[in-house]
This record gives sequence, structure tokens and C-alpha cells, in this order.
Amino acid sequence: MILPVVAYGHPVLKRVAEEIDNNYPELQKLIDDMFETMYHSEGVGLAAPQINKSIRLFVIDASPFVENYPEAKDFKKVFINPEIIEYSEECWTFREGCLSLPDMNEDVVRPSKITINYLDENFIEHEEEYDGICARVIQHEYDHLEGKVYVDRVAPMRKMLLKNKLRGISEGNVDVDYKMIFPNKRRR
Ligand code: NI
Repeated sequence: MILPVVAYGHPVLKRVAEEIDNNYPELQKLIDDMFETMYHSEGVGLAAPQINKSIRLFVIDASPFVENYPEAKDFKKVFINPEIIEYSEECWTFREGCLSLPDMNEDVVRPSKITINYLDENFIEHEEEYDGICARVIQHEYDHLEGKVYVDRVAPMRKMLLKNKLRGISEGNVDVDYKMIFPNKRRR
């Protein structure tokens, strides 16, 4: 089932999400729906807050990046209760986008390498190191669980220039071909 994606400005995107346990109701169905929603909107990652669930869960399939970033090959994963436990000092800049901020891309600086501890969909614990585009997508999704979106990480001057555009997104004043929830939608 395709779920509506919450747009920028919605309070759920500012909340720190809660951990879940393996009694979470219909978790596998939720994970399937999140992948379906992500593929439908041509995203490479989707975090639960973006479908209005404030829980620590995100899904990633970075394989569309494989042509330019070989490390993205077969990188399809579910992350539950993740914790990034180490960041490299070295950083790089990449132009990010987000399903909650349609029709917008901005350069974001992030650490190149991370170590993450998480549970997979079977609640098996993993500790893994990632770099390149995989580390990038993971950090973007992880931010959603911490109540952040990528525009919170662009330079303040730049963010100021984006103010009107961001307001437009929250009001639904944007061209998008997947279903969304706009927090400040105006009646016309
Ligand atoms: Ni996002």
C-alpha cells in the first residue's frame, strides 16, 4: 500500500522518534508499505516519520546510484533503532533531495564514513561501517529520526534564501506526482 508522504513543516518531522521492539504491530507490513511508497515516489530512502510514524525505522535502496557510486550495488536494507556510533573527520559535499521536500536539492556537507549499530527486520543486531553514497543516505535518513531535515544543515544564509520555497512546500504549493500531507495547506 502506498502511503502519503508528510511534507516539510509538519511537526512529526521535528520530533525525535521512539525506539520500537519486536512486538510492534504489523511491522513487516509497514516495512513493505514503506518500500512500496519509496519506489513509487522514486526515492532511495524513506524514514518512518515521513509517513507520520514517529518510530526509529528507515528503509534504503541506494541501487539507482550504482552507475556513479559502485558501493551502492545491492544496498537495500531496513534499519531499526539505529545508532551512529562513529563519524569520520573527513567530510564531503553532495547535492541531496528528500521526498518531504519535493522539487528541491541542496548541497550538504557530511562525514564521509560512519559506523552504525542497528537491528534488521528480524531484530538481529549488526554493527557495520559505511562510506561513500551509502554513508550519505544513511545519515540523511538517520537525521529524520532525530527530528532534522537536510535543509537544517545548509548554511544559514542559504536557508534564508530558501524561506519562501520552504513555505510553499508546507502549503502544498509544489508540483509533485505522489500523495503528500501538507501541514499548512490553504483552501482555495
Ligand atoms: Ni529525507
